[in-house]
Amino acid sequence: MVSRVIPVDPFDLVIFGGTGDLAQGKILPALFRRFCAGQWAEGAQVIGAARTDYDRDKFRNLVRNSLEAHAGRHSLDTAALNAFLQRVDYVTLDAVADHGWAELARKLQPNRVRAFYFSVGPRLFGPLAERIEAYDLTTPQTRIVVEKPFGHDLESARALNATLAAHFRESQIYRIDHYLGKETVQNLMAVRFGNMLFEPLWNSQYVDHIQITVAESVGINGREEYYERAGAMRDMMQNHLMQLLCLIAMEPPAKFDPDAVRDEKLKVIRALDPVKPHHIVRGQFEGESSSYRKAVGNPRSTTESYVALRAHISNWRWAGTPFYLRTGKRLVARSSVINVMFKDAPHSIFGADAGRHANALSIRLQPNEGITLKVTIKEPGQGGMRLVDVPLDMSFAEALGAENQDPPDAYERLVMDVIRGNQTLFMRGDEVEAAWAWTDPIIAGWQARGDVPKPYESGSTGPGDAELLMKRDGRRWQGINP
Ligand code: BG6
Repeated sequence: MVSRVIPVDPFDLVIFGGTGDLAQGKILPALFRRFCAGQWAEGAQVIGAARTDYDRDKFRNLVRNSLEAHAGRHSLDTAALNAFLQRVDYVTLDAVADHGWAELARKLQPNRVRAFYFSVGPRLFGPLAERIEAYDLTTPQTRIVVEKPFGHDLESARALNATLAAHFRESQIYRIDHYLGKETVQNLMAVRFGNMLFEPLWNSQYVDHIQITVAESVGINGREEYYERAGAMRDMMQNHLMQLLCLIAMEPPAKFDPDAVRDEKLKVIRALDPVKPHHIVRGQFEGESSSYRKAVGNPRSTTESYVALRAHISNWRWAGTPFYLRTGKRLVARSSVINVMFKDAPHSIFGADAGRHANALSIRLQPNEGITLKVTIKEPGQGGMRLVDVPLDMSFAEALGAENQDPPDAYERLVMDVIRGNQTLFMRGDEVEAAWAWTDPIIAGWQARGDVPKPYESGSTGPGDAELLMKRDGRRWQGINP
């Protein structure tokens, strides 16, 4: 299957923090791949902007090195790389003073899409926004892009929203949660709303419970300071897992358009019950070779590197169906999967010997993207009616051809959506605030109780208490498989 490349309008994309890790590791490689795919219009350009005193050639050199370092197993097409670098420019600029802004203004072209990517810490959002306005850089086609973490709690998220709202309309603000740019995450909507098969069963009458697992085998390398302040709840649960929960649980939007989709997601978040303390487990990895406390250099750290919880959505569709969410670092494998566990058939005509069987739909988000539906059939052969569960297994790579073995990086989709002006896969301000409003009391509860995370072995499936969380409900987690 060949993907369709729809060229975007000519654009100027300014990356504030252009010499930083995110720009070099994600944004520029994504832009280069879209350039190679032929998606850029004639004359489109990227302008790196940072305090580092570089000229254009030095910056181009940095970009060349980064692209080479991030090429992975693909070899770089030198001609394409040189052509791309011709479209890359640089301005030495101070976010909190006037240096460089007049030069930036001169480099921007009128009458084209103008995107400002704030690839910088949130404390610079205000100063950048003020100067964009002061130098009259906002045009009708201006968009700004901001990264997570969008705030540390509800109060700081509100303050950031207010800062941005003072200078830009909500329709100009693109808040990135890169999980929404993943092919398979978008596929959740296709599976749910493109098939007649699942939607009629997608409710508490037929679904016993849903498990959402985002397991990582990596630790927190190089991000100790940030992570120690964030922990798994703020780093992953409040945003990535929350978004997955929304896409799995939301009502069908009337159309696939930004506000229709985001209205439905917001309703899910607002319908979430507060999480009871005994429905949540925090963990921290430890082990001979990798221990969280050693990694952050704090022998008393109480930051969680793992969290598992049971959530409830109080609405007509989901009342009575628990959602179990878990995420953690240094687990046995990298594996993000959503398991929709259906109820048993209401009555077995085959008697007790046939055992208990229930359908399960597993949506593998990464790696090995695909879908497995567990169905019950007769065990072949003589000896009465015995039942057995077998998987109907579909891997996207096998089903859709070799080019899908390597799905495009989330940033490729998201950056092009910014240029196209499509906000469907970006978080709206009220959505982010609602997610913090649900998260804050959980964290406040830990602080008030002086909660200490349970240790778990690096390379394991997480703390034993997370197994108990399920066991108490007569359920169990599905395995974490690579
Ligand atoms: C980031 C988190 O948002 O997502 C990281 O800050 C995490 O801690 C990463 O490792 C996971 O992303 P992915 O795309 O590798 O699943």
